[in-house]
Amino acid sequence: MSHAEADPFAATVRGIGEPHPAHAALRALGPIVRAGAPAGGPVWIITDYALAREVLAHPGLVKDPAYAPAHWDPRTAGLEPTAAAQPSLTTLDGPAHERLRRAHAPLFTARRLHDHTERITAIARRLLTELAAAGETVDLMADFTTRFPLTVICDVLGVPLGRIDQAIAACRAMSSGRPEDVATAMATFAELAAAALRDGRTGLAVELRDRVPDELTETQLHYLLFALIFAGQLTTDAAAGFLLAYALDPDRPTTDKAPTGELVRETLRRHPPAPFTLWRFTTTDVELAGVRVPARSPVLVDIRGINTDPGRPARPDLTYGAGPHYCTGAQLAQLELSTLVDVLRTDFPDARLAVPFADLRQITAGGIQGSRLTALPVTLSAR
Ligand code: HEM
Repeated sequence: MSHAEADPFAATVRGIGEPHPAHAALRALGPIVRAGAPAGGPVWIITDYALAREVLAHPGLVKDPAYAPAHWDPRTAGLEPTAAAQPSLTTLDGPAHERLRRAHAPLFTARRLHDHTERITAIARRLLTELAAAGETVDLMADFTTRFPLTVICDVLGVPLGRIDQAIAACRAMSSGRPEDVATAMATFAELAAAALRDGRTGLAVELRDRVPDELTETQLHYLLFALIFAGQLTTDAAAGFLLAYALDPDRPTTDKAPTGELVRETLRRHPPAPFTLWRFTTTDVELAGVRVPARSPVLVDIRGINTDPGRPARPDLTYGAGPHYCTGAQLAQLELSTLVDVLRTDFPDARLAVPFADLRQITAGGIQGSRLTALPVTLSAR
């Protein structure tokens, strides 16, 4: 096994077409590479598709931060509370995780979400029309790409839409790095969850409450709803920026012809909003591709590197992960992003980038966070 020289967790600002410099370098070092973790000590990074699928279904690797290296500062590492403190899809494994997945899964199927298409279309149309009225050229990254997916996930869950500004502020506070901001944001998310569960509300939040195991407390249910809102915003926000840029790129000859679903999948393959999986930890010594990884070691899958591997045969990419933790919101994300492009093409056929496509820049804040465009100036004019 080799050790990484290029830092895969470095913050970067680069052109929209420029790959993050670390992924090709990691891949060249083999299917499993040891690098320095942002919170200190080693991390094992998986760069190979087949090994990634093995790792994502491996019983010796778990999500529970209780297994994180003892010296890690949870804040620097961006860890959630342990599964004992806060059971959730993203901290549990095994039968307890399966029970929670069974509660969520039927609510987030393509068939179930299809019923929301009209409302998602109306949200995209309303937000873009308001922006078009506000000025000739607008920066879609300044507000739209955050507001759109948050409005959709809140609408789907049943959070009153009068609370979207609160939800935006809470999502933004999560990345401020200040513990007091994060605490305030978590209190806001709990309020939003409670509002979706209030008597008389309808939506997936109420349905989820009726499906989760009885022993789950109100606070724990609020945390599950927080996870859906935050995961639904963070990823789809960044994805919408890249997608709109590609949809509006005048030099992309296939732009008008490519089926929308394909444009979405291809954009996400190149710019996966989660460039790495979330942290996993070995519970015992585990052997991966002939390398012995000691117990309590952090392991990540390099989603962006594997998705963009020129040697990767045609097969599903890893944009939404794989195995038991495969993204709960994959169908919702695909639906809302496709709907957004459809509304743009139908209602704003003359919309165009206000700067050359090649001038668009992307920023990665560092750690395991994804990239987003620094700005997306667009001239919108409604039909
Ligand atoms: C383009 C948009 C999205 C992308 C690329 C994405 C990506 C991912 C990935 C890679 C994982 C697996 C992480 C791991 O295995 O460590 C995941 C899990 C998850 N995602 Fe998404 N996601 C997106 C949108 C959403 C949306 C809209 C929701 C809200 C419904 C959502 C909710 C979740 C949840 C709850 C999990 C945890 C599932 C589990 O651990 O069992 N995601 N997502």
